[in-house]
Amino acid sequence: MNKERKLIIAGNWKMNKTVAEALDLVRGLKIELANVKEVDIVVCPPFTTLSDVSEAILDSNIRLGAQNMSEHNVGAYTGEIAAVMLKEFSVRYVILGHSERRQYQKESDELISRKAQAVHGASLKPIVCVGETLAEREGGQTEAVLERQLRGSLAGSSKDQMAETILAYEPVWAIGTGKTADAGQAQEAHAFIRGVLGKMFDETVARRVRIQYGGSVKPSNARELMSQPDVDGALVGGASLETRSFADIIKNSI
Ligand code: 13P
Repeated sequence: MNKERKLIIAGNWKMNKTVAEALDLVRGLKIELANVKEVDIVVCPPFTTLSDVSEAILDSNIRLGAQNMSEHNVGAYTGEIAAVMLKEFSVRYVILGHSERRQYQKESDELISRKAQAVHGASLKPIVCVGETLAEREGGQTEAVLERQLRGSLAGSSKDQMAETILAYEPVWAIGTGKTADAGQAQEAHAFIRGVLGKMFDETVARRVRIQYGGSVKPSNARELMSQPDVDGALVGGASLETRSFADIIKNSI
């Protein structure tokens, strides 16, 4: 597939996998995906498996991401994880503002923007998630919601920082539901997001930023989604938990 931007496909394991299960999965992926050069491959396991997974993927083409990070660098923040701790395990990417954290942990755009600054400050790359709920889509609010989330979550980001930022468009109604945005709906939202980036930053930034699609991505729909001009990868939940399905998503996208 001939793409303007290199595809980046990440597995968000969410709260799944013990150490033994995580190692099983990445060992399989290492073998299955050893020859893939066309796609940036990322796995985002839970914190408790980062150390082992990091060691297991040394000398492979698989990179490591975390699912969240504190906006603070150090101190009395019980239960939080700082950038410097992630860097010990060669983490390169950090998912921020996933809709599950926006919903269950009440994360705001303002908090996400502060986390993004901490991520950049540590020379890591944020994967900033945005997306509308079903009620918002049905109420004709999709574009207003996306623009508000982008302007809020990316507030304070410089053009240089944006070049290191990955965005993920994840319509909440498509997450874990088996309902995928069809390729046309995904392309429309991605093009809109790129347009907002053009207004917030400039055309060069807008053309450079990679925008992943997330929400019930599977081997059978990956190719059509990835073939859309403004879809530059995927953030995969459920289907990233099995070697076969995650590897097939990547292979089918090439
Ligand atoms: P599913 O692929 O399970 O729908 O999850 C998508 C997601 O939330 C990835 O971050």
